[in-house]
Amino acid sequence: MQLDGSAASLVPERPTLPKLREAAAGCQACELWKTGTQTVFGEGTRSAEILFVGEQPGDKEDLAGKPFVGPAGRVLDDGLEAAGIDRKLAYVTNAVKHFKWQARGKRRIHQKPNAAELAACRPWLDAELAVVKPKVVVALGATAAQSLLGRGFRVTKERGVPVESDLAPNVLATVHPSSILRQETDADRAEAMREFVADLKVVAKLLRAGA
Ligand code: URA
Ligand code: SF4
Repeated sequence: MQLDGSAASLVPERPTLPKLREAAAGCQACELWKTGTQTVFGEGTRSAEILFVGEQPGDKEDLAGKPFVGPAGRVLDDGLEAAGIDRKLAYVTNAVKHFKWQARGKRRIHQKPNAAELAACRPWLDAELAVVKPKVVVALGATAAQSLLGRGFRVTKERGVPVESDLAPNVLATVHPSSILRQETDADRAEAMREFVADLKVVAKLLRAGA
């Protein structure tokens, strides 16, 4: 049982990605292991230059056990392609590794993780950052951005602009891909996608400049 409110004691010494994944699979440091089907750990190589941080796995990710494989993942993939970033250069993970949801009829509706859950899960993300040592960290959406960059961070105002942080040489935030899917009209969706790609092009430029 690990209900001490932090995954810290589960992080192996001298971690590697396979060791971390295995240890996180049994994590019960917050209550979310009960609602999620499985721990959805990050994915990508340890030599990835960019590390994307989403909020938490969605419905599809919860079932597949892999991050960003559902609709939001498709938007991310499209964005990367449009910005000219090789998906293989990216490590993708989430601020919280279990799916938090509430039943509405037969559907499982996403619920935002709270501050205690984010804090409990943070050691996994810190360990991923320590192993991968990305040149660029990209927070996707307000939950990840505020968790990584502080509660006062405003994605709408500060998106696409590198900010000072000791997480990595370059850190920036953009919107969550799901927010693009939630736009009401095709025109709004297209505009949101253009802005997302513009932020990802900032990442591409940083990498080309040697980051
Ligand atoms: N949304 C996220 O934040 N992460 C995923 O892995 C999928 C959807
Ligand atoms: Fe552990 Fe994170 Fe899952 Fe909570 S959400 S049980 S801290 S892996």
